[in-house]
Amino acid sequence: MTKELELETLAIHTGIERSQFNEHSEALYLTSSFVFDSAAQAAARFSGEEPGNIYSRFTNPTVSTMQTRLAALEDAEVCIATASGMSAILSCVMGLLSAGDHIVASRSIFGSTVNLFSNIFSRFNIETTFVSATDPMEWQQAVKSNTRLFFLETPSNPLTEISDIAALADIAHKTKAWLVVDNCFCTPALQQPLKLGADIVIHSATKYLDGQGRVLGGAILGNKDLLMDGGIFAFLRTAGPTLSAFNAWVILKGLETLSLRMQAHSAHALEIAQWLEAHPGVARVYYPGLSSHPQHTLAMQQQKAGGGIVSFEIMGGRDKAWHVIDSVQLLSITANLGDTKSTLTHPASTTHGRISQQARDAAGITEGLLRIAVGLESPEDIKADLLRGL
Ligand SMILES: Cc1ncc(COP(=O)(O)O)c(C=O)c1O
Repeated sequence: MTKELELETLAIHTGIERSQFNEHSEALYLTSSFVFDSAAQAAARFSGEEPGNIYSRFTNPTVSTMQTRLAALEDAEVCIATASGMSAILSCVMGLLSAGDHIVASRSIFGSTVNLFSNIFSRFNIETTFVSATDPMEWQQAVKSNTRLFFLETPSNPLTEISDIAALADIAHKTKAWLVVDNCFCTPALQQPLKLGADIVIHSATKYLDGQGRVLGGAILGNKDLLMDGGIFAFLRTAGPTLSAFNAWVILKGLETLSLRMQAHSAHALEIAQWLEAHPGVARVYYPGLSSHPQHTLAMQQQKAGGGIVSFEIMGGRDKAWHVIDSVQLLSITANLGDTKSTLTHPASTTHGRISQQARDAAGITEGLLRIAVGLESPEDIKADLLRGL
């Protein structure tokens, strides 16, 4: 499939390899292993002399279709699908780094990612220095002789801080480190980090790539040398955090509507953000599409639109924040995001509840903060629902 096609077309047509039945929709290959014609062919497949499927922990045709499609959308040479977003981050670090290496990471990243870096990788002598998402000088100053990897999310979860991908890629490359960007909030429909200089893109496919809150999945994207020969695929194939064929099928069908959905999520989120900004009970609204956002200009250079996540600081702290949550009838009280259904979360006691108070304070996650992952319902109905508690 030629790369000259537009993203919306690539999302629908890339990666299809029809079976002998000539099906129109992509086939779902639910099989653990694949059969060989002979002992010689089995040996050739295992030695790598002959390409082809062996076992679904290594490769599977449905997973390959999803990988090829997402690679086309991110403009990446290669995509490796994983069982979840967290296993994508795990596989990336375990594949590329060794004991004694150092990571510089944004302070404003998903709570489980903070935990993985500070409490698990540290046990294997991979240390992480956390720095401001928005100040490239801090990244520069945190670099050590053993720094191998920079890690960030932009926009960040939940405060929608914007990191300057091109500027941080420059700093990373001068120190011979790789820049890894978690592109969960924007997806390639709104932002393509590899084009801005990032080396690797990470996805929690659980979110917008599926888009309907059905399955867990993840992905690692980048060039072939780094992903296939650099150790990431070898880690995944051996350790096994592989994406199931069923989940790959659900996600690849989700990709077909990704661009339409991201435009609608962004339009609805902007409307809700503007409405919240005008509400007297709201102290502050965090949304990159608002002109009041401190990095609105950078966001609009890097992103096609603001995305679907709006966070806001309510006056009255935890009590008032929980009251808003307990008053909704339409929004779902759940921590997931990227669904057609809008979700409402209190980050300080849920997604970021297991990190230390000090880390929460440093990341700006206050007791009055609420995060809405704006879905595809009518924005009027979402506003009416929020108004019950506000
Ligand atoms: C930005 C971000 N990255 C990674 C993850 C982890 O993804 P998963 O739950 O698929 O492991 C999440 C989950 O919420 C997330 O919000």
